[in-house]
Amino acid sequence: MLLPKTLTLLVSSVAILTIAGGFHSAVAFGGNGGGNTNNVYSPCSDTRIQRSDGFTFGIAFSSRPSFFLNQTVLSPCDRRLSLAAMNSQLSVFRPKIDEISLLSINTSAFFPDNYGGYMVAFAGRKYAARSPPAFIANTTFTVTSFTLVMEFQKGRLQNLYWKRDGCASCKGNSNFVCLNKQDCAIRTPSCKGRGGTVDCSLGIQLAFSGTDKHLAVLNSWYEVENLKQYSLYGLYSNLKSSLTSQFNNFF
Ligand SMILES: *[C@@H]1O[C@H](CO)[C@@H](O)[C@H](O)[C@H]1NC(C)=O
Ligand SMILES: *[C@@H]1O[C@H](CO)[C@@H](O)[C@H](O)[C@H]1NC(C)=O
Ligand SMILES: *[C@@H]1O[C@H](CO)[C@@H](O)[C@H](O)[C@H]1NC(C)=O
Repeated sequence: MLLPKTLTLLVSSVAILTIAGGFHSAVAFGGNGGGNTNNVYSPCSDTRIQRSDGFTFGIAFSSRPSFFLNQTVLSPCDRRLSLAAMNSQLSVFRPKIDEISLLSINTSAFFPDNYGGYMVAFAGRKYAARSPPAFIANTTFTVTSFTLVMEFQKGRLQNLYWKRDGCASCKGNSNFVCLNKQDCAIRTPSCKGRGGTVDCSLGIQLAFSGTDKHLAVLNSWYEVENLKQYSLYGLYSNLKSSLTSQFNNFF
């Protein structure tokens, strides 16, 4: 594994929410149960997946410039970035392919702005894919809701990107500020541990698109497109009421 060894693994919880033939939910890592054929568990290795496999990817937290070399975003697996020498953190997830999943990172002891305030999602080595850096937080603003699209072709990860909704989900809500016409942000001093009362844990919705190695179409993307950005928090409230009670006007 090429990852710098000194990066620390964050404790993170994963809630898998299946949206197929009606809503139901289960709390688990999705990718190790029935049907898994993918035995690659490192986010810095290549693999080809089929539907029902687990898929391992990472999210690195650091400053925006630390993800760049010569104006190009490199994978955090790339040693030339030397993220380990910087103030960085790493979180590894293994969701199940083609299930809409909400990943959550509890920020009660982890303040993203202490680590540079940006994140990059990544997977693979020779076929490395990485997302553009996304702003999470500084001392003024904290963005808590993200949608990450994972695009596969013939089972190989091709692309990772953040899907924005242009602040549609927080329009008219005075608790939020719309940053750069794309992200709904909470004022950081409103967050728990920062002087306020709001739980500013990060929620990352996953959506899958493209085809698996048998050319079966991954279509959780089409389902997530039809959901309002915050609607998964409504489902999530079955599992964790703390996130929703503060946003209860949303659902
Ligand atoms: C970065 O760009 C400079 C100038 O274009 C070049 O000399 C150098 O080799 C590049 N470094 C890497 C690691 O690509
Ligand atoms: C985060 O952790 C704190 C302390 O353990 C807990 O009180 C809070 O409910 C957690 N938040 C979420 C969203 O799980
Ligand atoms: C925090 O980020 C926002 C949005 O990028 C920016 O407008 C603001 O100036 C930043 N504040 C600080 C203290 O860096």
